[in-house]
Amino acid sequence: MSTPDLFDDAPPAPPVPPVPLTQRLAELRRVLHHHAHRYYVLDAPEIPDAEYDRLFQALQGLEAAHPELLTPDSPTQRVGAKPLTQFEPVRHQLPMLSIRTETDTEASGAANFDARVRRELGLTEADPFVEYVTELKFDGLAISLRYEHGVLVQAATRGDGEQGENVTQNVRTIGQIPLRLTPTLATSCAFLPPVLEVRGEVYMRRDDFGKLNEHQIEKGEKTFVNPRNAAAGAIRQLDPSITAQRPLSFFVYGLGEITPVAQGGPKFETHFELLQSLKSWGFPLADQLECAQGATELIAFHARMGQLRDSLPFDIDGVVYKVNSLALQQKLGFVTREPRWAVAHKYPAQEQLTTVLAIDVQVGRTGKLTPVAKLAPVFVGGVTVTNATLHNEDEARRKDVRVGDTIIVRRAGDVIPEIVGVVLNPVRAEPVEAFRQAQGKRVAERGPLFTMPRICPVCGSAAVREDGEADYRCTGGLFCSAQRKEAILHFAHRRAVEVEGLGDKLVEQLVDAGIVKTLPDLYRLDLTALANLDRMAEKSAQNLHEALQKSKQTTLPRFLFGLGIRHVGEATAKALASHFGKLNAIMGETSEVAASVEQLLEVADVGPIVADSIYTFFQQPHNREVVNDLRQAEPEGCGLHWTEGEPAPRTQLPLTGQTFVITGTLPTLSRDQAKDLLEAAGAKVAGSVSKKTHFLVAGSEAGSKLDKARELGIEVLDEAALMTLLASFVGEKT
Ligand code: IVH
Repeated sequence: MSTPDLFDDAPPAPPVPPVPLTQRLAELRRVLHHHAHRYYVLDAPEIPDAEYDRLFQALQGLEAAHPELLTPDSPTQRVGAKPLTQFEPVRHQLPMLSIRTETDTEASGAANFDARVRRELGLTEADPFVEYVTELKFDGLAISLRYEHGVLVQAATRGDGEQGENVTQNVRTIGQIPLRLTPTLATSCAFLPPVLEVRGEVYMRRDDFGKLNEHQIEKGEKTFVNPRNAAAGAIRQLDPSITAQRPLSFFVYGLGEITPVAQGGPKFETHFELLQSLKSWGFPLADQLECAQGATELIAFHARMGQLRDSLPFDIDGVVYKVNSLALQQKLGFVTREPRWAVAHKYPAQEQLTTVLAIDVQVGRTGKLTPVAKLAPVFVGGVTVTNATLHNEDEARRKDVRVGDTIIVRRAGDVIPEIVGVVLNPVRAEPVEAFRQAQGKRVAERGPLFTMPRICPVCGSAAVREDGEADYRCTGGLFCSAQRKEAILHFAHRRAVEVEGLGDKLVEQLVDAGIVKTLPDLYRLDLTALANLDRMAEKSAQNLHEALQKSKQTTLPRFLFGLGIRHVGEATAKALASHFGKLNAIMGETSEVAASVEQLLEVADVGPIVADSIYTFFQQPHNREVVNDLRQAEPEGCGLHWTEGEPAPRTQLPLTGQTFVITGTLPTLSRDQAKDLLEAAGAKVAGSVSKKTHFLVAGSEAGSKLDKARELGIEVLDEAALMTLLASFVGEKT
């Protein structure tokens, strides 16, 4: 566009040369690659998402108008490729090797490897330590990525190691995988080799896996059994738009083909240095990478990562040791398809296959019916597992676990064993080793779908499921011996009334023999009857008797907790005791004068469901009888006693009557912590700002609540001011 020339004799303004379109496209792509790396790999974005989207759309617009200028490394090419009918085979220029697995999961596994390496290298005891790189063994699937002149041109699965499948379209959707590499001056290798193949692991983070499965459930679709299966399934989708919806991540761990040094390729001395270069070019490298000197440090790494394993955001099944010096690697060479310079040192498996022998239904203290799968014993996560809970009928049916099925059982850390899924061979599509090997049953041969019995398997009373509840419950109450046993065990628990030595075997005997029907029966046990019980020696009978005597001196919170009122845990029991001070203030001399639901609702953290449960409990004549019997003095009663207090002087707390609202992110406290502190000082913490609000506690990114508070002239405190306020009460008599 030119402006009209007003001064005919003035020289024409020199034309501003337009930026060539190719240059603008290249610049947009460069900027987008940079920000994608900051976002996906470094987890440190520099610009808001909206700005990224704006740049992205600008590029998309230009590319749509000039399709001839589209390049395969354009950030727009992560999504939008067309579905394939099949994957093309890819021959690996350099075979994708596997690593020898050290089956010995103990420390000696590391020592054996170091000893072997030293032997192969002809080292004696006098020689120094061999240096290793220690890495995590990621539980995903191996991928080879080929870059030519810094641009991703091909991604292939491992296949049989010689030939894999071309999954480039799918791999392009993974945000952590660079489509174009950035040369840097940061490392010893400051330029990009013309040909570069990197190898690494595509995996799914545990949190992403959890979210994906939640979505699957929402959509009424089948869930994935574990992150590895979900990742493998995603990579093998013919339609890349499906892969794009599955959140995948990537770690680099090695090299494939690379331009040789003689032809201008980079020279690396060590594996560590190589990985650092790959990181500087834009590949995600796991933080847990270390160098280790000799066997002792390998063992230490194995132990340390074993401790860390459950808290990592992704699954690992072991660690990998690699000789660091590339010259030594070359010297060591290979045996068949495995390098002598590397080994995978595993951890005990957290998942195993086994068979469902039966599905039992157990009855809990509160009468809850729980389906429990009885399993053929299997060693998993360090223990032999024979049971796994199926939680409730819906869960059992959703997982579709049936008697006779082959299932995968998982036990991670100290978490209770869990059935991750049924293996239906040969119906399963995902090519995961466990599934291939499994001798699962065909659908037609399977038993019936699980249904919860409508009567209690222990006492025969009706089992009912209330509206909106997931659980069936036995209606037999203390008539049901299962509930009786659990109720007694709960009462005797260390954190409740504490009867030392009253464990499940003994309770079982006492209830089965009909000696103990209700809690007060415990305190009327006759020593001879006790000693006559199967396997009960006189000494143990005496011990139990003494423990029962000792338990009579208790506290109100322990007693309340021990009653096993539904929804009344330890914290609620404490809150009730300090709010009401006396048991009679809760249950009343008669049921008519018991605390009302409204009064119970005044207790901190007691909501309508809990209040209702407490109220109902103390309305039952049978329960009142038991409680009165327990607390009545001997010889008529059992003689349990505690010191009663006064109701908490709530009105005298320093912040009573003051309403606070918390908004934004506080620098050190979580909102829950701030709320707890305020409530402990007597304040009410509300969810929205109104004329009734006295103070607003605001952190960073406080939005509309802060605006509103300012509008209403409400005092605003930051975390420091809040802490000063709270600290001013310390020492004050409340
Ligand atoms: S190195 C020549 N390093 O384990 C060595 N592999 O059999 C080639 N894996 O499925 C592999 N984490 O995908 C190496 N830090 C790591 C690894 C790793 C996981 C997988 C790999 C392959 C198997 C090796």
